[in-house]
Amino acid sequence: MFSAENIVVRLDRRDILRGVDMQAQAGHVTAIVGHNGSGKTTLLRALTQDIGYSGRVLLDGRDVTEMKGWELASRRAVLPQASRVAFPFTVLEVVRLGLLTGAAGADDSLPSKALARVGLAGFEGRFYQELSGGEQQRVQLARVLCQVWEPVTGGAPRWLLLDEPVSSLDIGHQLQVMEIATAHARAGGGVIAVMHDLNLTAMFADHVVLLADGRCIASGPPSLVFTDETLSTAYGCSLRVNTTPGDRATFLLPHTAHRVA
Ligand SMILES: Nc1ncnc2c1ncn2[C@@H]1O[C@H](COP(=O)(O)OP(=O)(O)O)[C@@H](O)[C@H]1O
Ligand SMILES: [Mg+2]
Repeated sequence: MFSAENIVVRLDRRDILRGVDMQAQAGHVTAIVGHNGSGKTTLLRALTQDIGYSGRVLLDGRDVTEMKGWELASRRAVLPQASRVAFPFTVLEVVRLGLLTGAAGADDSLPSKALARVGLAGFEGRFYQELSGGEQQRVQLARVLCQVWEPVTGGAPRWLLLDEPVSSLDIGHQLQVMEIATAHARAGGGVIAVMHDLNLTAMFADHVVLLADGRCIASGPPSLVFTDETLSTAYGCSLRVNTTPGDRATFLLPHTAHRVA
């Protein structure tokens, strides 16, 4: 379990997170959602020790500040919201960074396997900077997959922490990436993903943490969190949650948003 207790982050004399509690279980896909600037990235950065905070972040009951860097690197891999590569690295060189960060002595064939997994087989020799935004995003995902390729090692789950992993992707690749995340969770690993798309979140998340103005205003399965009232409050517009007639799948249609009071 990855958990955060009473996380407070203050930047530039402004409270960005105001006492956030959250829990994410291995075996589940946990989505962090909320309006622009609600604190999603900041919360992920607190979970990954990339930003100062007060409160506690625990991984399987241990405070992460007491864990060694190599241990954390072998237990969780982080996909940031934007990844810039300043040098003319090849795709293989970028993906291999995950191999170097993760478990020592990992299989050298993993980068190619990870690239194939994200639909980029044969891209090894291409220059990263010459790829499209969506291709770059999938290369970065291959890098983090390399880092925690086995969802469980030594009986302990390994975690994917993903900040808007599908933001630059077409619908086919959005589904592919969410299926990769789900497969990691179903095999016993853990996934925490910052998500913008509420429909994809409803489809794939087991647990949702909904932020607004630096606070968690609701958490639980999408069927409980995604209500007209809660989402309308969180996003500051009128939203209606719908379900398909057959399998009662949840969906939102943006163009009907303002018709409902
Ligand atoms: N380094 C920083 N200094 C000052 N304010 C910041 C900094 N990083 C983020 N913020 C502010 O914190 C708020 C939350 O940002 P963020 O967590 O990135 O939001 P989002 O939910 O869109 O991911 C925003 O209002 C943003 O402007
Ligand atoms: Mg963000």
